[in-house]
Amino acid sequence: MCGIVGYVGDSKSLEVLMGGLRRLEYRGYDSAGIAVIDDDGALNTAKQAGKLAMLSGELDAHPINNGSTGIGHTRWATHGAPNNENAHPHLGDNGRLALIHNGIIENFSPLKDELLAEGFTFESETDSEVAAVLLGREYQRTGDLAAAFRAVVERLDGAFTLLAVHQDQPGVVVGARRNSPLVIGLGDGENFLGSDVAAFVEYTRRAVAIGQDQIVTITPDAVVVTDFAGNAVETEEFDIAWDASASEKGGWSSFMAKEVSEQPDAVANTLRGRISDGVVVVPELTEFGDEVLAGIRRIVIIACGTAAYAGQTAKYAIEKWAQIPVDVELSHEFRYRDPVLSDDTLVISISQSGETMDTLMAVKYAREAGAKAISICNTQGATIPRESDAVVYTHAGPEVAVASTKAFVAQIAALYLFALHLARVRGTLDAAGLAEQTAELLAIPDKIATVLEQGDTVRQLATWMSDTRAVLFLGRHVGFPIALEGALKLKELAYIHAEGFAAGELKHGPIALIEPGQPVFVVVPSPRGSAHLHPKVVSNIQEIRARGARVIAIAEQGDAAVLPFADTVIHIPLAAPLFEPLLAVVPLQLFAMELSVAKGLDVDQPRNLAKSVTVE
Ligand code: M6R
Repeated sequence: MCGIVGYVGDSKSLEVLMGGLRRLEYRGYDSAGIAVIDDDGALNTAKQAGKLAMLSGELDAHPINNGSTGIGHTRWATHGAPNNENAHPHLGDNGRLALIHNGIIENFSPLKDELLAEGFTFESETDSEVAAVLLGREYQRTGDLAAAFRAVVERLDGAFTLLAVHQDQPGVVVGARRNSPLVIGLGDGENFLGSDVAAFVEYTRRAVAIGQDQIVTITPDAVVVTDFAGNAVETEEFDIAWDASASEKGGWSSFMAKEVSEQPDAVANTLRGRISDGVVVVPELTEFGDEVLAGIRRIVIIACGTAAYAGQTAKYAIEKWAQIPVDVELSHEFRYRDPVLSDDTLVISISQSGETMDTLMAVKYAREAGAKAISICNTQGATIPRESDAVVYTHAGPEVAVASTKAFVAQIAALYLFALHLARVRGTLDAAGLAEQTAELLAIPDKIATVLEQGDTVRQLATWMSDTRAVLFLGRHVGFPIALEGALKLKELAYIHAEGFAAGELKHGPIALIEPGQPVFVVVPSPRGSAHLHPKVVSNIQEIRARGARVIAIAEQGDAAVLPFADTVIHIPLAAPLFEPLLAVVPLQLFAMELSVAKGLDVDQPRNLAKSVTVE
């Protein structure tokens, strides 16, 4: 939700800022804007509603004077419509100061009243402009941007990353953060700020994460981080594990197409270094403490969206292998219902971005209530891992498309590693059992590659179905969360009403939706591995077929029982039942993507969405 970039150094900042915004655009694309202090010390701004291309067009039509200090913003609208007036930056101190914001200032209304009463005026409907005007007022009083920030942050409630420049302080960008992300990029004679490392990875792979309630001042040669009271704080540098090319399309038609194709590597990289001689040993979990893990009596998984479906999938494996009860909760529901937690509860958060505000707040709540917290995260330097007792990173590489794909399979892989590590520590699987499941896990990357080869079949299906108004998805056992994920992908990418159901629930209501021609995807369990469930799902297929449904079955290679009853069968390679989700989800991702393409929609940036949801 909103991407933020800041730069000071020798280069012309406009190029750096626009490049950073291009790589951050997945965070929001309602409007974009920049502010640059030019070489004569004047502050120049440009902003435009719509995607970044609109701002580029505006800058081509009305160029601004460039300079070596600047800030840039790409917006996901919260307060105020996505128009030019509400686009960032916002100005303070009579237009001599520019500010950008990610987050929500919850008490903006009384602050605005206070400023209006003092005679200040506002151009926008945003909460953010209140911070700009307030900062301008404090700058006039202190004459120093960092000092002004210290006064302002004390007045703000809610979540914010704020960056500002003042034309009287060229060569200085100041930022502050509370509950919203901000990372420093360390260069040579230049420094950067960004919502995440993608903002500056083209220029440096040295980064520093900024903690909660901290203020950072960057100049070309120095970085100073303090707490909100102005006391210096220690920071820790880390190396960014991927380079700029990883966040480029690399010849693919969309980021999503690229990321779907990268799934074999996303899983293989997540497994790497965590299995030795066929035994799962996750170093991060060993460090967290195998005795602590052995003492856990209950696991609560918290996540949102696709990450929550990864959690729902893993619940089956964790309970079977480690024999420990697992609840899976949506982060935003968890925190506000007084959940029962104790020090033998382990909370596992799952988040690709590591910044999802609902999940972050749930983690903080759980730790305050005495639970231990492990995060499964894909983004280095993100906030949720910093707020957890331990982190198991997925190594899926940067995920840019708003619809999550490779992060999902990597999350399941990481959770299965966790489950096998825990089963070993708790002694709930013997050596042979551990070895058998580990071998299945290691075989997954190649099997995903095989599923990807069926892209043409799925594309054809999507083309035939481009006029479809509603699609249903059925699954049972681990196929159920995959049905939910298939429906979510279709909603967000193709704007088609889609619902996922547990196949066993069909006769309890949803079957009333079936009418002639209704497309239904069915994730069919393996006839070998799930001999008791397979015939039940095949019966479900017959029930809906009898009522005219058009059935698209995702079934194991060689499953002859579905052939007479399905209109289309998409085959997946043989795998043990708990591993089928990692294969069955791929055709559903491809289907949603191809349908979006067939409808001429924006696959990477679906309407109304943002990649990382940093507001509650
Ligand atoms: O960054 P996170 O994994 O915490 O994001 C969670 C959800 O917002 C995310 O999975 C969302 O549902 C995706 N757009 C789904 O494709």
